Formats: sequence, C-alpha cells, structure tokens
Amino acid sequence: MDRITVLNTGRLPPALLQRLQEKHDYLDLATATDRTAFLAEHGPRVRAVVTSAAAGIDAATLAALPNVQVISSFGVGLDKLPLDTAAARGIAVGYTPDVLNDCVADQGFGLLLDVMRRITSADRFLRAGNWAAGQLPPLSRRVSGAKLGIVGFGRIGQTIARRASGFDMVVRYHARRPVADTGVAHEPSLLALAQWCDVLMVIVSGGPATRHLINADVLDALGPQGFLVNVARGSVVDEQALVLALQQGRIAGAGLDVFEAEPQVPHELLAMDQVVLQPHVASATQETRAAMAQRVWDNLDSFLTTGQLVSAAPLPAPH
Ligand code: NAP
Ligand code: 8YV
Repeated sequence: MDRITVLNTGRLPPALLQRLQEKHDYLDLATATDRTAFLAEHGPRVRAVVTSAAAGIDAATLAALPNVQVISSFGVGLDKLPLDTAAARGIAVGYTPDVLNDCVADQGFGLLLDVMRRITSADRFLRAGNWAAGQLPPLSRRVSGAKLGIVGFGRIGQTIARRASGFDMVVRYHARRPVADTGVAHEPSLLALAQWCDVLMVIVSGGPATRHLINADVLDALGPQGFLVNVARGSVVDEQALVLALQQGRIAGAGLDVFEAEPQVPHELLAMDQVVLQPHVASATQETRAAMAQRVWDNLDSFLTTGQLVSAAPLPAPH
C-alpha cells in the first residue's frame, strides 16, 4: 500500500490513529486553529478521509479536498456524509455494517429492559437510602410477553427482533418495504404500530427522510402505557414533542442513546426518573469498536491496494 495523505475529520480509537500515523502522512482537522487556512494549505494533497459516523464530513470540507478518492467511516450511519457529492465526484465511501449489529441490539434491549423494569431508577432509589428507610419503589412493567414495535427492520432491527424472541415478546415492525422471510409481521402504518405495541424501538436510518418520524402523533398513539427506545439517530425523534409527552404523562417512559443536538441533552430529560439516558454508546464495547476500527483500516487498505472497498456504502445514482 502506498503512503498517502489521510485526513481525519472524526473521533477515532487511539489504536487506529496510531496505525494511520505509522503507515500514512496523517492530518487531523481537529488540530487546525484556522480550518480554512489548514484546508487551503493541506487539502490538495489529501487522498483519503477517515471519519466517524457521528462526526462525518461536511460538503464544504469535502470541496476543499479536490484529490480525495476515498472516505472510510467508522460506523454504519451515513447521515453525516455528503453522499451526493461523493457519488458525483466518484469518491468511494466505506463504512462498518454488521460488525456492530449485536452490540447495538444488546444496548437497545438493555434500554428496553431498564426503562420497563425501572432498573436504574430503582438503583437511584436504593442509593438514596429510601429502601433502608422502609420505602418501596413503584412497580415496574413486565417485559416477557410484551408487544415490541420496531421502527426500521434492517441489519440491527432484525437482530433486536431475535433478542425479543428470548423474552417471548410479540414483534411487529415498520419500514417502507416489507422484508421477506423473517417471520415477523410488517406494519405499513407507523401510527398503527405505535398504537399496537407496548414499546417502540427506533432503529431506522437517519437523514432528512426520517427527520421527526417519531412526532407527537406517534407518541400519542404509543400512549400513556407505552415506552419509546431510540438507538437510531436523535434527528428521528421530535425531541421537544418527546419532552412534552413525557412531562404530561402521555407516554410512560423513554430509553435514549441518541439526541438531536449531541452532546447536548435537553435539561428537562435529565430531571426525569422515567427516562434512561446514554451518551451515544450503543456500539461502544471494546470488541465491537475494535472490529469497527479494523473495518475502517481494511476499507482503506483494500481501496488503496485493489481499488475496491470491503464494505462499500450504497451511494445515490449520480445525476
Ligand atoms: P439498515 O440495515 O440500512 O436498516 C435501516 C432500516 O431503516 C431499514 O429497514 C429501512 O427500510 C428503514 N428505513 C429507512 N428509511 C426509512 C423511512 N423513511 N421510514 C421507515 N423506515 C425506514 O441499517 P442498520 O445497520 O440496521 O442501522 C440503522 C441505523 O442505526 C443506522 O443508520 C444508524 O443511524 C443507527 N445506528 C446507531 C448506533 C448507535 O450508536 N446508537 C449504532 C449503529 C447504528 P426501508 O428502506 O424499507 O424503509
Ligand atoms: C458510533 C454509530 O457511535 O455506527 C453508527 O452509525 O452511530 C455508532 O456506531 C459512531 O460511529 C461513532 O462515531
């Protein structure tokens, strides 16, 4: 593999950064005090971009890299990558699907268990001395046998459904198209799915097409006994509508790994006991992050050696 100039625009594991620094001429956009000057000076020699799905690269930065041939992204979400521009310019885009399915599904299921069984709430109750003082926490809700509605039934959504079968849950899903041979019922209406289920698990792609898919109407269909779990993207849920629905008891609780303006989390949510909050960590196990880092490296290495990516992101047809 040739030594080339690689620009990092995201947040990546130290071991991957070390590898990049050893094998390539490595630049980190985060070190630039003046981004415009930095890109004007270094942009023309950058041949590859590495980034993270949460950070991505904006169209203006990509425009300052006239000779970039490949973007290798750490994560599966594509919502922060200018795919239209990449397609138009013939830039290859690599990502890390599948290797994170299990851990993201585990975390989604962990949030479901926590929010329904009030696990961290009861932990807070105990630590506050309430049990020792003779009190009992509120009763929680039964998970086994409950109805799970999954919004988005791709790689991770289907993995979550398999977790649910171990809890004898009844599962249905909503996506724009039914998925064949899964044995799980497709519900074409998101409102009907929300109305039917006890817990709505959101694991659709982010981006403009799904912005605020989970709005006040969907939350009202979920209803005062219903729970929301979001491990997809903050943009998929109308956060203001969610805060209001929780404040007014129009839904029972929520488990959230992602937020609209990360790392900012609405202060109203921080004060709620029926809400479990996580700092976008669904894929953040040692094992999965190592596998993701390896795939970022393999995508880059393979592209530079053979012109092909191991995992090529689907790009829109150039127009
Ligand atoms: P995937 O295999 O591409 O699945 C995406 C699913 O979303 C498909 O079922 C797709 O079905 C559905 N979908 C897309 N647009 C939709 C729309 N407008 N309405 C309804 N359904 C829609 O992706 P994946 O690997 O499962 O990952 C899903 C997402 O999870 C990623 O894009 C990423 O944003 C998020 N994620 C988050 C974390 C985290 O750390 N919290 C980690 C990994 C992934 P149709 O196209 O048929 O509608
Ligand atoms: C990571 C993610 O947290 O894969 C995704 O889309 O959101 C997560 O796996 C992210 O890639 C780190 O930036």
